Amino acid sequence: MADEIMRITGGTPVRGETTVQGAKNSVLPIMAAAMLCQGETVLTNVPQLSDVYAASRILNRLGAHCTPDGHTVTINAADICRAEIPDADMRAMRSTIMFMGPLLGRMRQCTLTRPGGCALGARPINLHLDAMEKMGVIIRCTGEQIVCTADKLHGARIPLAFPSVGVTENVIMAAVLAEGETVLTNAAREPEIADLAGYLNRCGAKIRGAGEGTIVIEGVPQLHAAEYRIMPDRIAAMTWLCAAAASRGSITLRDVRTGDLENCLDLLRRAGCKLGECDGTLFLDAGGVLRSIREIVTMPYPGFPTDAQALLMAVLATAHGTSVFDETIFEDRYKHAGELVRMGADIRIKGTAAVVEGVHCLHGAYVEAMDLRGGAALAVAAAGAEGQTVLHGLHHIDRGYDHFAEVFNSLGIRTERMVISTSSRGKTSA
Ligand code: UD1
Repeated sequence: MADEIMRITGGTPVRGETTVQGAKNSVLPIMAAAMLCQGETVLTNVPQLSDVYAASRILNRLGAHCTPDGHTVTINAADICRAEIPDADMRAMRSTIMFMGPLLGRMRQCTLTRPGGCALGARPINLHLDAMEKMGVIIRCTGEQIVCTADKLHGARIPLAFPSVGVTENVIMAAVLAEGETVLTNAAREPEIADLAGYLNRCGAKIRGAGEGTIVIEGVPQLHAAEYRIMPDRIAAMTWLCAAAASRGSITLRDVRTGDLENCLDLLRRAGCKLGECDGTLFLDAGGVLRSIREIVTMPYPGFPTDAQALLMAVLATAHGTSVFDETIFEDRYKHAGELVRMGADIRIKGTAAVVEGVHCLHGAYVEAMDLRGGAALAVAAAGAEGQTVLHGLHHIDRGYDHFAEVFNSLGIRTERMVISTSSRGKTSA
């Protein structure tokens, strides 16, 4: 049996520049939304990710013609004829739930099972189902299958109990072709939601307020296809910034929307990093001693994103003093902490809190990515650690990063990706 690993040689400060990839959390719902549009959708600035290929496979199985080609994806949904997503595809990633809204909008039916994705806790879908029911969908759960049907979808007033990103996106996608007006309150305000609405409005939808707490969607009879450029990925940007910070280096990032990253940049500044910005280019310099941050609470946007929690933890593991994280979004999102401890970090978990006592430096170790951002955080820690780190579980990283190892190498972090036999697992020199 073979396993793929990444060997990262740390300890050299990052010096370099890179262009930020297109956003994973934007392209996935937009690919699903393309099934609502007549004609040929052309998406550009699409990151090359296993999740994008999984979404493409699902679209093709439904009868669409979806062709990824480099950083462009072309989708023609004219021949969509199926409304069922097989269990194996559902388990491939969490965002398969994103097909529910558009399938209902397009086919007035869909059959699916519970989605997979990163194991961050229970991740229920009750809010998705409740919102669809309010729009006229009848839902039957038979064994593992969730069968949704609607004679017609109608607009509704939908107050969300929690500003869920996925539910906000599903409601938007179901409502654009529904009859009448949908008013979604306590909606999620993440920038990727405004990107989805930007795409759909270009296709002829009538969505107001995306990116704010109240979103109003007026149903239209049909949508036409359009060309659309996917927004830059704020979490990938944060990953490269954290690699520079962890290695006490400096970095220049091109194609960044700094407004979307304000909460992250503020914390990096508080830790002692110097930041500058000019025309979509961001500079970070982390020379010198970094300071701990007393309290970091993950919150829905515009709060500090849960997706950046592990990345910042990798930086603060070697900051001077005690940092305390409070993870309020997902119940089980500290799996990277144990792996960071293997690298010499001092981290204790108590319920939703993680207490990080900064140590002088980390050292290379054999570690395993347990989820996407936790895996990226281990690579970030490795960039600043003394010696070599061998990182397993790369399939998690491939879900969300376009050529991770190449980007690290371009930043001066020596990174080799290689296939090893599983019998030599743990024996690769570290
Ligand atoms: C999206 C992002 C993910 C990010 C998360 C929070 C995508 C593809 N993924 O995930 O990277 O970490 O937002 O910013 O965009 N919840 C329920 N019932 C539901 C739905 C959600 O209780 O029906 C809970 C979840 O368990 C979680 C919280 O709401 O505790 C937030 O989840 P949500 O905002 O829905 O995250 P996702 O859309 O899955």
